[in-house]
Amino acid sequence: MNDTATQPAYRVDSLIAEDIDAYLEQHQNKGLLRFITCGSVDDGKSTLIGRLLYDSKMIFEDQLASLESDSKRVGTQGQELDFALLVDGLAAEREQGITIDVAYRFFATEKRKFIVADTPGHEQYTRNMVTGASTADLAVILVDARKGVLVQTRRHSYLAHLIGIRHLVLAVNKMDLVDYDRETFDRIVADYRAFAEEIGIEEFTAIPISGFKGDNITAAPSPNTPWYEGPSLVEHLETVEVAGTAAQARSFRMPVQWVNRPNLDFRGFSGLIASGKVKPGDTVRMVPSGKTSTIKSVVTFDGELDEAVAGQSVTLTLADEIDCSRGDVIAAADDPPQASDQFESTIVWMSDEPLKPGRGYWLKLATQTVTATVQEPKYEINVNTMEHLAAKTLGLNAIGVAELRTERPIVFEPYADSRVLGGFILIDKMTNATVGAGMLHFSLRRAENVHWQPTTITREEHAGLKNQRPRVLWFTGLSGSGKSTIANAVEQKLNLMNRHTFLLDGDNVRHGLNRDLGFTEADRIENIRRVGEVARLMTDAGLIVLTAFISPFRAERRMVREMMEDGEFVEIFVDTPLDVAEARDVKGLYKKAREGTLKNFTGIDSPYEEPENAEIRVNTVDMTVEEAADYIVSRILPLK
Ligand code: ADX
Repeated sequence: MNDTATQPAYRVDSLIAEDIDAYLEQHQNKGLLRFITCGSVDDGKSTLIGRLLYDSKMIFEDQLASLESDSKRVGTQGQELDFALLVDGLAAEREQGITIDVAYRFFATEKRKFIVADTPGHEQYTRNMVTGASTADLAVILVDARKGVLVQTRRHSYLAHLIGIRHLVLAVNKMDLVDYDRETFDRIVADYRAFAEEIGIEEFTAIPISGFKGDNITAAPSPNTPWYEGPSLVEHLETVEVAGTAAQARSFRMPVQWVNRPNLDFRGFSGLIASGKVKPGDTVRMVPSGKTSTIKSVVTFDGELDEAVAGQSVTLTLADEIDCSRGDVIAAADDPPQASDQFESTIVWMSDEPLKPGRGYWLKLATQTVTATVQEPKYEINVNTMEHLAAKTLGLNAIGVAELRTERPIVFEPYADSRVLGGFILIDKMTNATVGAGMLHFSLRRAENVHWQPTTITREEHAGLKNQRPRVLWFTGLSGSGKSTIANAVEQKLNLMNRHTFLLDGDNVRHGLNRDLGFTEADRIENIRRVGEVARLMTDAGLIVLTAFISPFRAERRMVREMMEDGEFVEIFVDTPLDVAEARDVKGLYKKAREGTLKNFTGIDSPYEEPENAEIRVNTVDMTVEEAADYIVSRILPLK
C-alpha cells in the first residue's frame, strides 16, 4: 500500500464499508460494476488504480463529499475495516470483530460507475482478497510483463475463480519496460491460458497496458501497441455485464431481513432482493415453511412499485396472513430454493485459532443465523500449486473442502448459482469474531426426509412420575481431580433420598458408546457432544444425570448447557490444582505423559479451560469427598 502514498497526484479518498451501503442504497446497484485488483505493489497495482481514478476525472465529488460528511471514519487508504464484507446480505451486520485491510474506492466514467476493492498483498492476502472479492463482478489480475505468470498470479486467479468472479482480466502491465513487445505479451497470455484451463477458468480478457505511461487504460487505443486490437481496460470495464443483470434473469428470491409491522393494518416483509424480479400478483412460496401466497404490493420509501428487481431493498405485502420471520426466504412459487442441514462446502479459514472440527460456530448465511459444525476437512488446497493436501484442521488463510452440518435446515442455493444464498461466514460463539468464510456447493441430504416425531408422554410426565426435576450435574476438572469419586458419592446420597439418577463416567463411556474416540481435540469435542446428547435424552426421561468427564473446553460445556432447559444444567468445577492431581497420579498416566509416552494429556500437552461461571466449585484439597458431596447436594436442593 505504501507506494501510492508517495504519489499524491493519484491519491483519491476512499470510503469505508459503511459508506458502501449508503452508496448502494442511493444507486440500487444499477449500472454499477464492482471489481477487485489483484497483484502486489511490485506489479504496479496502486499505480494502475491511481491512474484509473485520475484519468476517469469523474470522481463523484459531490457524492463523495456527502458520504464523507456522514462517515465516521474517512481516510485516504489502507483503512482497517471492522468486518468481512463477505456476503451482500450480511453487509449491514458488521458487529463481528475481524480486521481486514480492504480499501474501497469509487469512480465513474460517462457510461458507468465503479467500486474498486483494493487489498494489500502481504501475507494476510487470502483473507483480505476473499473479503474484497466476495462482492466483485470482475477481477483484474495484474502481471508484470517482465516477469510473466508467477505463483501469485495463479493464487490470485484461483481465489477469484473460487469466490465466483466470472469476469477475469489479465492485465499485462509495464509493457513500456519490454518495449511493447508483442511476443512477450502473447507468450504470457499462452502461459496463463494453460494454467486457467487447468483450474476451470473458461474465459478471460488479456490486455497489454502500462499503468505508469497510461497505455490502453482509457478509451484511446495506444499507438505503442498497434498490434493489439482489443478494448482498453476502461472500455472493457464499461461494457462487461454486471452481476445484477445476471441475477435479475434468475428466479425470484428475497431473504427476509425483518418483519415490518408499524401498525395492525400493515404487515410487510423487508429485505434485499437476491435474484429475479417481483411484482404485485406474483405467486410466492415461503421457504422453509412451504406456504404460498400472492404479492399484494411492493413498497419502498418512495412509494409503491410496479416491479422490483435484484439488488433493490423493498418491503413486500402479501394477500394472505402468513407466518414468516427473519431468515425465511420469499421465493418464486414455481422454483423455490431447497432447505438442508448437511452440505459439502469450501471454507477459507480467517482466524489465528485453527478450525475445531465438531465445534459449534454461528453460521450466517443471508439473513439466517444457526449453529453449525464443520467436520474434519476432506482436504486442504494449496493455493499456490492447487494440490490437495491431507488435513485434520484448517489454519489461518487455509482453504479446505469439508462437510458442514447445521443444527436446523437452512434455505440455500449452491454458491455457483447464488452468492447471497450460497455464501456464509462462521463466527466464534465465545469471542464473536468472524473466523471463516465459505461457500456451500450442494446438499448432502434432504433434511425434509427426517422429521421430529412427537411422542405422547412428555418429559414433564416422565419427571412427574419420579417426583423430581430433571438435572444434569456436569462435573469438570483435570484427570485425577476427583470428579468420578465425588460424583459417585453424590449419586449415593441422591439414591438414599429416593432420587432417580444415572452416572455417566468418562472412562466407562469410552469403553462403549465412545470407544472409537481418542484424545485429539476433535475427538474430545465429539466425546462431549455425544455425552451431551445422551444426558439430554436422560433428562427427557426424567432422570438426574451426573457426568464425570474432563470436558476441557468451554465451548463444548456451553454447548451442552444450551441443549438443556433453563436451570437444568449445573456445572460443577472440581478445582484440584494440577500439581495435586499429578502427585496423586492414581492411574499412573501423568508419569507416562511426562515421559512422553502418552500424548495429548490434559494439563500437560493438551489444554484445560477452567470454567468461568460454574454453578458450584469444590476441590479435594480443602474438603473431603464426603464434604464436597454434601455441599453439592445442599446446593441443588430442592430436587422437585
Ligand atoms: S475428555 O477430555 O474427552 O472429556 P474423558 O473424561 O472422556 O476426557 O476421559 C478422560 C480419562 O481418560 C482420564 O481420566 C484418563 O483416565 C483417560 N485418559 C487416557 N488418555 C488420556 C489423555 N491423553 N488425556 C486425558 N485423559 C486420558
